[in-house]
Order: sequence, then structure tokens, then C-alpha cells
Amino acid sequence: MTMTTRVEHRSPYLDGMYAPVQDEVQADLEVIAGEIPADLRGVFTRNGSNPRFEPEGRYHWFDGDGMVHAVHFDDAGAHYANRYVRTRALAVEEDAGEALWTGILEPPDFSKFPDVFKDTANTDLVFFNGELLALWWLGGDAYRVSLPDLETLGTEDFGGTLQTHIAAHPKVDPVTGELLFIDYDPVPPFLTLGVVSPDGEVVRSQTVEVGGPRLQHDIAFSDDWIVVFDFPFMWEQADGRSRLAFHRDRPSRFGLVARHGDTSAPVADVRWFETDPCFMYHVCGAWQEDGVVKLVGCEIADPLANDPANAPDLPDAPQIAMLRLEPFLTEWTFHLDDGTIAKRRLDDQMAEFPRIDVRRIGQPFRYSYLMRFAERSELAFDGVIRHDRLTGETTSHSWPEGWYGCETPFCPKAGAAGEAEGYLVAFVVEEATGRSEVHVLDAEHLEEGPVCRLAVPARVPAGYHSWWVPAEDLVTS
Ligand SMILES: [Fe+2]
Repeated sequence: MTMTTRVEHRSPYLDGMYAPVQDEVQADLEVIAGEIPADLRGVFTRNGSNPRFEPEGRYHWFDGDGMVHAVHFDDAGAHYANRYVRTRALAVEEDAGEALWTGILEPPDFSKFPDVFKDTANTDLVFFNGELLALWWLGGDAYRVSLPDLETLGTEDFGGTLQTHIAAHPKVDPVTGELLFIDYDPVPPFLTLGVVSPDGEVVRSQTVEVGGPRLQHDIAFSDDWIVVFDFPFMWEQADGRSRLAFHRDRPSRFGLVARHGDTSAPVADVRWFETDPCFMYHVCGAWQEDGVVKLVGCEIADPLANDPANAPDLPDAPQIAMLRLEPFLTEWTFHLDDGTIAKRRLDDQMAEFPRIDVRRIGQPFRYSYLMRFAERSELAFDGVIRHDRLTGETTSHSWPEGWYGCETPFCPKAGAAGEAEGYLVAFVVEEATGRSEVHVLDAEHLEEGPVCRLAVPARVPAGYHSWWVPAEDLVTS
């Protein structure tokens, strides 16, 4: 008789610097090197996955409950806090005292409809119309989080005008004040585009026809166009289960949707541009000039691991379950006159989680800030890169050996309007010990290292997206 033994899978994203923390801490931070710049005033916030209870079934890093970590810089110093995003699902599990949802690696439990998957709000943060919102990668409720104490205040439905969910990476147009977002689902209509007016009313909601379920993650826009994506990376049904598939025999389609004119039709009018198959999680931005729309983001040519048809280009590309992460900064040019598309790689370093000065979103920008990937099997950022789009040059800073950083928003120097004048702020963690610090870098002089280091009296796990809220945007009443 043949005996088979099931080897229990334990995700590497539950241990070490990815391991969740359970304590919610508030503490003043000690400066251990340099000085807090006098023109750095506001709140640095960062979201991430932090399971409250021992996961049920196989765990994927994207499954954990949302936890926001923040540092408030004011005239008295720097103050740290971390708190769970208290979602509806987390409240239900806290009442039960255990995990009630399995994650995305297990078969979906449709008996929980409409909450088939657990909306954790663990992915992204955006500050819009006076509120910090926590958002989920699969598209869920937008949870309002108070500043600087990180209390979950409830969900934002824009006065009842929001009829869909909101996925991670909505974008605020610094010119019009609008919020542009997508929602997506594995069932029709698959992809929806939405616009919220500056005073918080959904004024546009249209289906974008992509022909089937697609993994979506971001959008971009210029003054006159919204850029949406139809990558050949999709959910498929096989053997009664849903799985991700990447089709190298199908093109990627980039869609341009007009921002102005009649936007009341239920289905958006899209001008599609086709090019090589790829996937992209995050964009830096888009803009328009001289008859073209340009888009810069991090292309992944080969996004599916454990697929014999998809050999990795690099042996040490990080992986999260079935996702292989080999992103490179890339520019696409969409020619409006003849419908052609051109693509060029801007940098050869594996890097992602790109950020620009949010005051340049939708406009031509010069500098992108990207997290450089350590060459290892788990996702970890061993440095930060500044890419100069005009010269093609990069400058960088490596975190200390054995320490890893997180996404760094661009924090403009108080009173400075220039795109280069600002700081990068990050949680930096020593993997072997969990010792955690906040490092502040001058964006114009990355190579000189931190201008300030602060000790955090708690471990800050690796996480996802960040946001900088300048002091003048904080409600102080
Ligand atoms: Fe993201």
C-alpha cells in the first residue's frame, strides 16, 4: 500500500519580518541620528496585511487584516501609532474569537455571499476630501480612518451615491480635485470606472467592456483621458475551481476613455491599443502631449509562477504564491492619430511600488521613486531608487545590510512647490531581530543616506502602500 503524506503549506509571509503584530501601540519616537527636518510636517501612513487570527487553510500574504502604521511629525517631534482597520469582517471574527474566512488560495465559500472573500481594506490608502480611506485590492468598502490616531470611523459611500465597491489605487486629480477609481469582479460587468466630484458625490459610473474576468490593480489619467487595462491575466474556471491564467498568445490592451463630454452612458466608449502580453500592478502616472498619451509604470512580462510556459528571466525574482514579480520601469506611448503604440524600458533594476509627487499626477512628471527588489524568493525592498525621466539617470539608497524598507511616499517640503524638493519616509526593519526604525531621506540627495533616524518601540511588519498627509490637510478641530 502506498502511503501519501500531505505536506502542510506554511506561507513564508507569516514569519520573520512579515509576521503579524497584535499590539496596537502609541508612542513618541526617539531620534537616534540626525534631526527631524523643520519642513517635514504631516502624517506618514502605511497599510498592510496583518492577520488578527491564525489563518484558516492555506494563507496568501494578500489575505491578512488591514493594519495601518503611522508617524505624525509635528513641532513636538514624531509620534507613532498602529491600529487595525476595523472592518465589518474583522468585527465578526473578533466576536467569534477565530478566523471565519479562508483566503484566496482556498476554494471560495459562496455560502458567505456577498462576502465570499473577506474585505480587509489591507492594501492602499488615499487622502480625499478631508478623509484618509483604506482600500482593498479586490475591490471593497472604503474605510475612513481618523488622523493621526487611526481610529476606524466607518465606510464612505459618498452620500449614498456610490453604487459599486472601490478597488485599491483610486487617484486624486490635483487639477480638478476629482477622485477616479475602478471596481472589478470575477463576474459581469467585470470592470467599472467611477469618478467622484471634489465635494464627494459619484458623478460617473460606467462599465468598461473587457470581455471577461481580469485581474486589475490600477488606473491612470491625463487631462483628457483615463487609462484602463485589459491584460491577458485572468480568472478561469477549471475542475470546478477558479484559478489565475496568463495567456501569452493574447495581447495586452490599453484603453483610453475620454474624461469629458457625455459620460452618462452605462458603458464607456473606449479606444483600445494592443501590444505585447504583460501585466502591471502599479503605474507612476500618465499625461498627454503633442497628439500622444504617455504612461509610465512597472511592466511584468511574465506574471505567473509555476507555469512551465513562463520561464523566469531572472533566477531570483520574488514570488507570492503563484505570482512572480519581475517588474521593470516602462513607458508606453499611445499615438492618437494612427492608433499605434510604442514601448520602451526605462530602467533595468527590478523595482516596483512606484510613487511620484502626487501634485504631478495626470501631468508630466520628472521623478519616480521606486522600491528596489532584493534578489530573494520573498518580496523585500533592499533600497529605494529615484528615476529621472528627463535624463534617464537613477540615484539610489540601499537600506543597511539585513534591513528592509517599505514604500515611501514623496513628502513635499513644507512651502515648497518643486517636484524635487521633498523627503522620503519609510519604516525600515532589521530582518534578524525585528528592530524597527523610521528613516527620512532627502529626495534630492538619496545617496547621502538618512537625514534622520528614529527608533520605533515595536516591530513594524513588511507591508504595502503608503500615503503622506501634509499638516495643512489635517483637521485640527
Ligand atoms: Fe497595489
